[in-house]
Amino acid sequence: MKNFEFHNPTRIVFGTGTVSRINQLVPETARVLILYGGASAEKTGTLAEVRKALGQRSVHEFGGIEPNPSYETLMRAVRLVQAEKLDFLLAVGGGSVIDGSKFVAAAALYQGEPWEIAEQGGSNIRQALPIGTVLTLPATGSEMNNGAVVTRKATQAKLPFRHPLLFPQFSVLDPSKTFTLPAKQVANGLVDAYVHTIEQYLTYPVQASVQDRYAEGLLQTLIEIAPQAIAAPDDYATRANLMWTATQALNGLIGAGVPQDWATHMIGHELTALYDIDHARTLALVLPALLDVQRDAKRAKLLQYAARVWNIRTGSEDERITAAIAQTRSFFEELGIPTRLSAYGLGEDAVEAVLQQLQAHGMTALGEHRDIDLARSRRILQAAL
Ligand code: NZQ
Ligand code: ZN
Repeated sequence: MKNFEFHNPTRIVFGTGTVSRINQLVPETARVLILYGGASAEKTGTLAEVRKALGQRSVHEFGGIEPNPSYETLMRAVRLVQAEKLDFLLAVGGGSVIDGSKFVAAAALYQGEPWEIAEQGGSNIRQALPIGTVLTLPATGSEMNNGAVVTRKATQAKLPFRHPLLFPQFSVLDPSKTFTLPAKQVANGLVDAYVHTIEQYLTYPVQASVQDRYAEGLLQTLIEIAPQAIAAPDDYATRANLMWTATQALNGLIGAGVPQDWATHMIGHELTALYDIDHARTLALVLPALLDVQRDAKRAKLLQYAARVWNIRTGSEDERITAAIAQTRSFFEELGIPTRLSAYGLGEDAVEAVLQQLQAHGMTALGEHRDIDLARSRRILQAAL
């Protein structure tokens, strides 16, 4: 196991009827900005509950944060925070609203042009406003981690950043708030959480026994609950398991002390920036192809994954690996999520366009061995055609 430090300061308030707890969690004298997305938070009644819980506090609101939150939109929130001297951000939504709020938290106090935060991956953050969240979409883990991803529409750049000051102070996780999700977003959430786990698990062995078993438990839970999560939107127990699994897939615990990959995410971000494909859907395009191209570097872990997650224990090593990749692909496809670029009408032109973007963003040495250069990214994308 590698050396590591682990510190996660986010308080999780989990369960049905927990939105009212915000009243104790936000300081009484706070000047609050509620941030939300499009229409869903208002329509589902979650915003009304949040407003009620905040009681007499001074509250402003900023709606319209879009999926894959844009710098252009978020800068309007930054100006509101500065003009009204707001000092607490409350994000109500999915990963996009939470990530956007993290950007606003850092940008509002940043000395300089805030896009530099994304360009430098957050290493230049010195201060940030406190954030709380009410999660309405289990997927990204943003509710319990210190990372975020923002897009600059003007240049089609989608860049990640992180900083310890960006952990939410608290996150309210009420699984019943997910009952209104369209099936497509539930499928996206299952796949995003699955790939987060894979990015931290399917690398090379470092004898991190508990991280491995924990990751395999998260993967098996996602596989087990997936059909019911789609078929029965108001099955509380299933949604509770989905929500807590997705949070744990990216709250730092399974990634502590182990190598991490993240190439699927970095290539996927370029597909979203160029073609506006949902985040999770880009991951389903890249991952099976990447596992195939990287099968030698990942051999030991692929065999472990095949045996322990999919119970594939017979056949030659290569046959078992091929079968595990095929199972992964069918898991995504059965959720209605395509694993081929052709499903989006994309071909060789898209491969070249993504490669140019990867080059422009310095994504030329990806993966746990930093061996995914542009030539290898090309092979991965071609394998995804
Ligand atoms: O905008 P509204 O009307 O609210 O609708 C949203 C949005 O259209 C809808 N929705 C959310 N909760 C709902 C609901 N509809 C009905 N009922 C509810 N309860 O769902 C749509 C998608 O929302 P979004 O927040 O975009 O989805 P998700 O949570 O998948 O977030 C994706 C973003 O997170 C980033 C992605 O890159 C992408 O920008 N990620 C953030 C990570 C992190 N911070 O650690 C890690 C991830 O890998 C990911 O990159
Ligand atoms: Zn993701």
